[in-house]
Amino acid sequence: MQRSKIAGIGYYVPKNVYTNNDLSRFMDTNDEWIQERTGIKERRFADRLEETTTTMGVEAAKIAIERAGITAQDIDFIVFATLSPDYYFPGCGVLLQREMKMKEVGALDIRNQCSGFIYALSVADQFIKTGMYKNILVVGSEKHSFAMDFETRSRNVSVIFGDGAGAVVLQAAQNEDQGILSTHLHSDGSEAEILAMFYPGSHANKWLKDKPAYPDQELGGLFMTTEQLEGGAALPYMDGPAVFKKAVVKFPEVIKEALTANNLTEKDIDLLVPHQANLRISQYVQQLLGLEDDKVFNNIQKYGNTTAASVPIALCEAWEAGKIKEGDLVCLAAFGSGFTWASALIRW
Ligand SMILES: CC(C)(COP(=O)(O)OP(=O)(O)OC[C@H]1O[C@@H](n2cnc3c(N)ncnc32)[C@H](O)[C@@H]1OP(=O)(O)O)[C@@H](O)C(=O)NCCC(=O)NCCS
Repeated sequence: MQRSKIAGIGYYVPKNVYTNNDLSRFMDTNDEWIQERTGIKERRFADRLEETTTTMGVEAAKIAIERAGITAQDIDFIVFATLSPDYYFPGCGVLLQREMKMKEVGALDIRNQCSGFIYALSVADQFIKTGMYKNILVVGSEKHSFAMDFETRSRNVSVIFGDGAGAVVLQAAQNEDQGILSTHLHSDGSEAEILAMFYPGSHANKWLKDKPAYPDQELGGLFMTTEQLEGGAALPYMDGPAVFKKAVVKFPEVIKEALTANNLTEKDIDLLVPHQANLRISQYVQQLLGLEDDKVFNNIQKYGNTTAASVPIALCEAWEAGKIKEGDLVCLAAFGSGFTWASALIRW
């Protein structure tokens, strides 16, 4: 089977920069707390009305497609990863297909939060390997700012996340030493609710605890009372310390799994591009694997955690900065809500 390779890569971040000090205008937080706990200095927030998860994905996709030397008409499959879609349904894949005037190709939406991009890459990789498709567009995009609460009650969540998009075009590799060597996907739903957003969802009532929506109603329940919404029923929930503890175990585990599967070791990694969850998590993983500073790429300082977009944005920035050369061994790894975690090993 032919391996797949990244033939083109691009990213897009909105122009609105919000520093930690800017956030302290809305909530009780400060630059020192945020930098010390997360490494984040600033993040980008999309225009509230003009930009969406899809439009940002389109901007990143245009660059990836151009760099692959093809046109949007050549794309024969779309895989779109996001947790902040434009609509509850349909997904962003079809909206991107419409926006980019692509042919009536298949469009698949991936709901795997922070590991969404690597899951999407893995799915696309299988389609290239079997020869089913030739040019697959893989997108990770998030507009978190629209669903976050900028009040003190949500400060542990809203200081972490930012908006942006990244995209790659996957094609069959001509050189057999090149391309995606393997991908590794995992999940453990036993703690699904410690990093979650329950509404809108068909099981949301259970998690609204003492205040389920319309408890006396025979059917329905999606529509909440104004009081419930104002009380924060539709906000993301995160038990930060619990996420941290699990992430520092699963990141190294899934990286080692990828290396072992390819008879390689930590010393063979030229660049590790971890999902940008928290700079402290990346530094801990780096230390555990014994990697030098120039072998790990981080940009969370500028963009915060952009969930499904974080790996392709970081990969693209690293590539643009000349940190990835032909023949390099690049490792991608992610961990997030679900829990789900994943890795990919690529010979560039
Ligand atoms: C979220 C995270 C930064 C919080 O750091 P922490 O050291 O665990 O902090 P805690 O949640 O224990 O809170 C410590 C204190 O800081 C306060 N605090 C929380 N957010 C704050 C903020 N933005 N500014 C100031 N103070 C804040 C808390 O209220 C708490 O105060 P208290 O001690 O008076 O009760 C950290 O747990 C983390 O990064 N976890 C991983 C999250 C993650 O990666 N999520 C994405 C998954 S891919």
